[in-house]
Amino acid sequence: MKRLIIEGGRELSGTINISGAKNSVVALIPASILTKGKCVIRNVPDISDVHTLIDIMKFLGSDIKYEDETLYIDNKNIKNKFIPDEYASKLRASYYFMGSLLGLFGKVDIASPGGCVIGSRPIDFHLKSFQKMGAKVSESNNEFHISSNGLKSTEVFFDVPSVGATINVMIAAVRAKGTTRILNAAREPEIVNIADFLISMGAKITGAGTGTVIIEGVTELHDGEVTVIPDRIEAGTYVIIGALLGKNLKVAGIVPEHIYSLLYKLKEMGVSYKINKDVITIKKCNNLKAVNIKTTVYPGFPTDLGQPLSTLLTQCKGESVFEETIYENRLRHVPYLNGMGANINALDKKAVISGPTKLVGRKVKATDLRAGASMLVAGMIAKGTTTVNNVEHLLRGYERIVDKLNNVGANIKLTDA
Ligand code: EPU
Repeated sequence: MKRLIIEGGRELSGTINISGAKNSVVALIPASILTKGKCVIRNVPDISDVHTLIDIMKFLGSDIKYEDETLYIDNKNIKNKFIPDEYASKLRASYYFMGSLLGLFGKVDIASPGGCVIGSRPIDFHLKSFQKMGAKVSESNNEFHISSNGLKSTEVFFDVPSVGATINVMIAAVRAKGTTRILNAAREPEIVNIADFLISMGAKITGAGTGTVIIEGVTELHDGEVTVIPDRIEAGTYVIIGALLGKNLKVAGIVPEHIYSLLYKLKEMGVSYKINKDVITIKKCNNLKAVNIKTTVYPGFPTDLGQPLSTLLTQCKGESVFEETIYENRLRHVPYLNGMGANINALDKKAVISGPTKLVGRKVKATDLRAGASMLVAGMIAKGTTTVNNVEHLLRGYERIVDKLNNVGANIKLTDA
């Protein structure tokens, strides 16, 4: 088990550079399987989810190299093998092998995906869509077996926009016969990034980033390349830290419009910042005002920033109401924040946060990836020493987080427990 030991209260100044987006790269790697040509993926973050996917790709026969933030992939020898639990359960995004192996071979056998325990996280939209495309789906003993005699065109409609299902259907439809339409598709920037990669290989996709994505099937694909977009959740996390501890802290390499929902809320709280192209400069606000936040699909406030933001809300004057609408279980970090001195009343998916409250260093736990980010932010503003256990979760999603923060003045150690 890995843990962070944080000495709180340090002002931060200097520049933090943002890495490539986790939730893009975890789909780009499995998507590369669709082509027998060579693929280059640039700006790849060095996070454990990427290494898990590299292992799965090698297991399937891919010649894949990771050098200088770039993945060089040659899939000409890829084999269609059962992806066992020891690989599939390590991350959520293993479900993208369903779309890519089904698209290429017409068949996929894979154990259940893993990921953070933040709710029931069904994948029924993915499976129903594959069925509508003509595939047979069976599930037993936590394994999925999906096969088809060639996927056919169809129209799918999601009850709620799902990032994973939009990407998975888009990937599977690239080689399907005819035109596939995804209605009520998710509009997250990561979806555009995956579509651009597929288009670079010769796929015909329009509408990515809107509520309707149209994929016209093709029979041949060629070499492909893409640059991973900046991670908007990593960027948002450091911007939140800047609002609490920044002394003109610069967060660089961002796409500002990807985090507008956060920036507007920060303005409402009274935080001041300046944006210059892809750099945001932010400083500590001593007079934070309470605000209400509801997480929702893009371009609304992202669920993945809800937990780090809740730590910021503990420092706002008044009562903030925080509501999570995507997952059932994204408030598991609240008891730990309360243990550090916060005053949060949480019920189901809603939390009323009264502040400001002084936080003090304690032993806490990262119950999932973004809960880990929340605990890290709390430790950085707390008086004294905070120990965050189980930070493997955090390291799955934030590249070199300890170095990046120590380089701008934080005092954080990563140790084995
Ligand atoms: N949903 C269904 N059925 C499905 C698919 C989704 O009911 O078949 C529901 C979910 O239960 C949820 C909602 O639809 O209530 C949205 O889920 P979505 O499918 O969009 O989530 P996901 O694709 O599993 C990705 C990210 C998450 C991020 C969400 C929402 C990856 C690997 N994961 O998950 O990232 O929270 O989109 O933006 O891309 C994280 O990075 O911490 C993280 C959890």
